[in-house]
Amino acid sequence: MKKHFLHLLFLLATASLLAQNATLNLIPQPVEIQQGTGTFALTKSTTVGYNKPEAKAAAEMLARHLSTPTGYVILAKEGKSASINLSLKATPYDKIGKEGYTLEATTKGVNISANHAAGLFYGMQTLLQLLPKEIESLSPLGGRGPGGGWAIPAVKITDYPRFGWRGLMLDVSRHFFPKEDVKTYIDEMARYKYNVLHWHLTDDNGWRLEIKSLPKLTEVGAWRVERAGHFGDREDPKPGEKATYGGFYTHEDVREIIQYAAERNVTIVPEIDVPGHSMAALAAYPELSCTDATVYVNPGTPFSDWWGNGTFSMKVENTLNPSEEKVYEFLDKVFTEVAMLFPNPYIHVGGDECYKGFWKNDPGCQALMKKLGTHHVEDLQGYFMGRLDKMLAAKGKKLLGWDEILEGGISPGATVMSWRGMKGGIEAAEMGHDVVMTPTTFAYLDYTQGDPTVDPRIYARLRCKTSYNYEPVPDGVDAKHILGGQGNLWTEQIPNMRYAFYMTYPRAWALSEVYWSQKKDKNWDKFSQKMEAHFQRYDMAQKRYSKAVYDPIVTTKKDGDKLVLHMSPEVAGLDLYYTIDDVMPDNFSPKYTAPVALPPGPITLRVQAYRDGQPIGHLITLTRGQLEARVDW
Ligand code: ACM
Repeated sequence: MKKHFLHLLFLLATASLLAQNATLNLIPQPVEIQQGTGTFALTKSTTVGYNKPEAKAAAEMLARHLSTPTGYVILAKEGKSASINLSLKATPYDKIGKEGYTLEATTKGVNISANHAAGLFYGMQTLLQLLPKEIESLSPLGGRGPGGGWAIPAVKITDYPRFGWRGLMLDVSRHFFPKEDVKTYIDEMARYKYNVLHWHLTDDNGWRLEIKSLPKLTEVGAWRVERAGHFGDREDPKPGEKATYGGFYTHEDVREIIQYAAERNVTIVPEIDVPGHSMAALAAYPELSCTDATVYVNPGTPFSDWWGNGTFSMKVENTLNPSEEKVYEFLDKVFTEVAMLFPNPYIHVGGDECYKGFWKNDPGCQALMKKLGTHHVEDLQGYFMGRLDKMLAAKGKKLLGWDEILEGGISPGATVMSWRGMKGGIEAAEMGHDVVMTPTTFAYLDYTQGDPTVDPRIYARLRCKTSYNYEPVPDGVDAKHILGGQGNLWTEQIPNMRYAFYMTYPRAWALSEVYWSQKKDKNWDKFSQKMEAHFQRYDMAQKRYSKAVYDPIVTTKKDGDKLVLHMSPEVAGLDLYYTIDDVMPDNFSPKYTAPVALPPGPITLRVQAYRDGQPIGHLITLTRGQLEARVDW
């Protein structure tokens, strides 16, 4: 007995020591954390209490989440005496605002409180992250639970977001994601305290929203011919070929998804991308184009030429005709249903990459330009957006568009989504417009995240560390106009939800600290340690993510006629071993410590990261030609 008692004492002492030193791996980083001593462990008698009906949903969600992996039947009930309490404050605590919370975990239990249900939801997410990774198990672990029990370290947290707009954009046009996939995406983003889903519903490759008054939009526009292979290099439809790939969301689906999102404090901003990117709409209603073009819903064929300086031309018409009244009648029908379905005050009207070549040659557009007293075809975009601004205002909605809406005259109340860098956002903010920052350079989640010789071909690159080091408020800009920002997931090369996760995470974790956490608390080395802990949580939950952060970053520079190699790891604690003599490297090969001037010859570089003597990440193999091609990347 005495032996057992001593053993128990030893265990208790170790547990409290561990608790004192517990590493908290919270993403995004909370504003204030005070660590305490000891732990509180979930047991089969754990209960979740809540104090008001508005807190019930979060309490029930938490109880469900805790029950599955533990195998305990944890119930939510109204009242204050539970081991975990979710409380809405009787008097508001101004410091934490609408979405903030306080969380106090002691050896006796956990109290989460907030001014609103959103804060309780976020407090619950933080609590889940305080638990061992096994809490992410999809099935009861029974005796295979975490070694130290279901322990929550003692801690006091006060937390609230830096920005009100913390979004992810999901493109469902290039590939269609069924309703359940959209919910999965929402569920995950909410866990990292994102609160806006920007839903890119229409584009050249599919119209995804039922518009009851325009049935052809989904009968025709939601379907394209089945194609495999690299999107953008595919073959045109053959005459008579059936369009069988696609899908769309009914009004009922949309209401269900909006409700699901609202339960997770996510609001949905719908995007109807016009006047460009409209090939799917034109496939259904060709009379809305300048040439009554017979176009098809594009299955990923090449139809535009890019000239390398941001300018481009379209071989196929994909623009609505701004001089045609039928276009405004069409859009009025579309936006009437969109406004009725979506409670969010904003409707995103696109406005990006609108090719004006067909407008230039169209007699109707020429007449309209004359009437407007302009020689610039670009001004027709300003005219078009002005009409949309009024149309939306009449429906009680605010216009949001990509930064091209600054061209040709921006409407007074418009909000700008800055994507071509920060420039558009800065210009808009200086003019007094609100801005959502989503620059390609930091926030485009479709870009290759590791070495392009490993990850599939995409036209640009974006490392997780680069996303992390992003500051959305440019110097000299009035911060009140920067509503926040987003990560954007375009899905040309993303055919399913598991791969959407691979492209989104971990970069969206990095961006969650950009948009939620305080600027002063950002630290890549600390973040990347937490990121690795979240990798383990995802493994437990069988979710997909990219491990590109383990792949060496290889760039080159020219020094006279010499080609000089520069290599670096993206996360700390990695050593890079390389060869240039056509053998496979191991950790007895040369270790990279300083730039290497390559000798002449048909050299191939091979570089592998190691941690603690074990290879980690991909072997990167680059020929001299490939190394030459990446000078000054
Ligand atoms: C965009 O990436 N075309 C907004």
